[in-house]
Amino acid sequence: MSEYDCVIRGGTVVTAADTVRADVGIRNGKIVTVAEKIEGGKKIIDASGLLVMPGGIDSHVHLAQPAFGGPAMADGFESGTRSAIAGGNTTVIPFALQPRGASLRASVTDYHKEADGQSYCDYGFHLIISDPTPSVLEQELPALVQDGYTSFKVFMTYDDLVLNDRQLLEVFDCARGCGALVMVHCEGYDAIRFMTEKLERAGKTAPYYHAVSRPSSVEREATHRAISHAELTDVPIMVVHVSGREPMEQIRWAQQKGLKIYGETCPQYIALTAEDMKGLNMDESGGKYVCSPPPRDEANWEAIWEGIRSGVFQTFSSDHCPFYYEGSQGKLNPKARTSFKWVPNGIPGVETRMQILYSKGVGEGRITVNEFVALTSTNHAKIYGLYPKKGSIAPGFDADIVLWDPNRKETIRQELMHHGADYTPYEGLKVTGWPVMTLLRGKVVAEEGKITGQKTDGAFLQRELSPYAVPKHAG
Ligand code: URP
Ligand code: ZN
Ligand code: ZN
Repeated sequence: MSEYDCVIRGGTVVTAADTVRADVGIRNGKIVTVAEKIEGGKKIIDASGLLVMPGGIDSHVHLAQPAFGGPAMADGFESGTRSAIAGGNTTVIPFALQPRGASLRASVTDYHKEADGQSYCDYGFHLIISDPTPSVLEQELPALVQDGYTSFKVFMTYDDLVLNDRQLLEVFDCARGCGALVMVHCEGYDAIRFMTEKLERAGKTAPYYHAVSRPSSVEREATHRAISHAELTDVPIMVVHVSGREPMEQIRWAQQKGLKIYGETCPQYIALTAEDMKGLNMDESGGKYVCSPPPRDEANWEAIWEGIRSGVFQTFSSDHCPFYYEGSQGKLNPKARTSFKWVPNGIPGVETRMQILYSKGVGEGRITVNEFVALTSTNHAKIYGLYPKKGSIAPGFDADIVLWDPNRKETIRQELMHHGADYTPYEGLKVTGWPVMTLLRGKVVAEEGKITGQKTDGAFLQRELSPYAVPKHAG
């Protein structure tokens, strides 16, 4: 047998199933051996005292999305994927967004131009469908699914993206036909508009009122509606960025009924609250935390943990959607100062997702380290058609690995970040557990906060159909 290119020696290998003291042998970018003791190796990485885990897969990341007249995003592929690998991730799945009136295929081509040669980690694309015309539903989507874009996202709010109930049903039905998995943004458009106009009339325009304009009931109603549409069309869906108890309970109810409804949650729903949007004194610094659905409160954090521990949620993603804070392109742009309605929605988080879940989850005894791996990597690979290439440490898998120091104490600070944004919403958060090295297909791409990889290292991933997307009784 020829020599290993690299052996990771002396660490504790953690997968979604097991925790074992083992060495890992890598050849040609793949894991070839996991054994108690591996001799040889052209390169030896000493992992004593470290956890050796599958690289993070963040299946909900927005990069280089169009601004629709609003501020531009702070991350394209170069800075966004640089930030991802610094945070222990090896794969991200951003979105290719179809602007209304445009062809989806053309949008996908445009996103490839953005990503090609500009990615530090591997990537796939979900398809955001804003205009489900007959040609999109009957021709473009089936062909794109065949080409490895095997998941869609649809929105129940936002002027430029919202689909009405009929359109949601048509997309769900199409997904059923082509075996795609649909991610659904569940917030009710009309209720939000009604609340927004009422708040504005009352002069309540500060960023905090973003949270007031879209309370839990708005998310609960939309979640229930999406579940009902999924039941009617007999198609599994993934309810994304779930913020608290009320939508979590809807998903749990559906799962208990036997429906194939899956759930995703994010760091902002266990680490931020609506109070953060008040800023120092109802000032505009609250805009730093504006995202949708909005962070809620500590009681809702506990509900999210309940959902994580009991398996209501399969994935923990960042929903990284970065904007600048300062400047004319930032959260504080002149229009945004006139109403929360114009503050761009979204916060950066791809680089801090794993640390926040590890620290609050494993460190504080809420989940096991194996559940951590499932929530940050393995389940993303399984659900989004990347398994058994990505998402575990075993012979045959890509050597996408993060070496993790479970005892490293850090304070999250903007100066540590590699993203394009000029702030992190988690500034000052103390965490225990930190990525010290990231390997992408056997190559060390980040080490101790330094980027050692190149922006040409990342490859596009043509994904298989999700095994979660095919209803059991489908013909
Ligand atoms: O506020 C958020 N989450 N912005 C990103 C877009 C989305 O809805 O996921
Ligand atoms: Zn969304
Ligand atoms: Zn998102």
